Amino acid sequence: MASLEEKISQLDKNRIPVHVAMIMDGNGRWAKSRGFIRSDGHAEGVSTVHRVTKFSSDIGIKYLTLYAFSTENWNRPKEEVDTLMFLIGWAIERELPELLENNVRIHLLGDIERIPDEARERLFYARNATAHCTGLQLNMCLSYSSRWEITDAARKLALLAAEGKLNPQDITEKSISDNLTTSGIPDPDLLIRTGGEYRISNYLLWQIAYSELYFTPALWPDFSDEDYVDALLDFQSRERRFGKTSDQVQQNH
Ligand code: FPP
Repeated sequence: MASLEEKISQLDKNRIPVHVAMIMDGNGRWAKSRGFIRSDGHAEGVSTVHRVTKFSSDIGIKYLTLYAFSTENWNRPKEEVDTLMFLIGWAIERELPELLENNVRIHLLGDIERIPDEARERLFYARNATAHCTGLQLNMCLSYSSRWEITDAARKLALLAAEGKLNPQDITEKSISDNLTTSGIPDPDLLIRTGGEYRISNYLLWQIAYSELYFTPALWPDFSDEDYVDALLDFQSRERRFGKTSDQVQQNH
């Protein structure tokens, strides 16, 4: 089997995806299989977030978007929600020095106002402290769901139309994109879901229209740098046609 270094050397450094989005699934199963409680899986998952962020930064990815907490996750048992909120606030505070060292900029996506005060303040602090960073942009999706943000965008545009400031005929794909929480961020080139499920789970539905999808059975706490490089190699083996024919794509190259 190829070592991590050998695998990395197989990557085409000129075709590293600009934006990688991830669905971090499998923490609960990881914990359960070891006789631990689910929250232990989330705690272990924080280590993977650390590793994946460092690896993304080192390899030259510009945007990494992580689905840390969905709108639907509010329906989980209170104890698990509380632990997740604590972990998110604690992790961001603990990681801040290294994020700064690695020039990583924190960006928050979702209905952040719903995040409990303590975690929210730590997140805002980290966002402000890293605002000047020019390396990897780490987008943390918190209290996020795609249908929520599309509904929110529709509401904003409808309000402008009702106030006579926007002609409905002038609504374009761009005006919708501009009103999503991801405004200004290029669409993901690659979406990776860990945990062996083949679902999108209300994540970046608008933005992944032409993303390459990659599913791995590795549970999030087990998702290794090797697994990540496998996903990147798989991505690089694909031909992205954006609705065109293969011949057209080859000609453009
Ligand atoms: C899904 O696994 C994972 C989550 C709902 C939370 C992900 C959160 C973290 C990895 C920790 C904090 C994140 C940051 C950014 C510091 P699951 O619980 O649904 O797993 P299961 O499918 O095995 O039950």
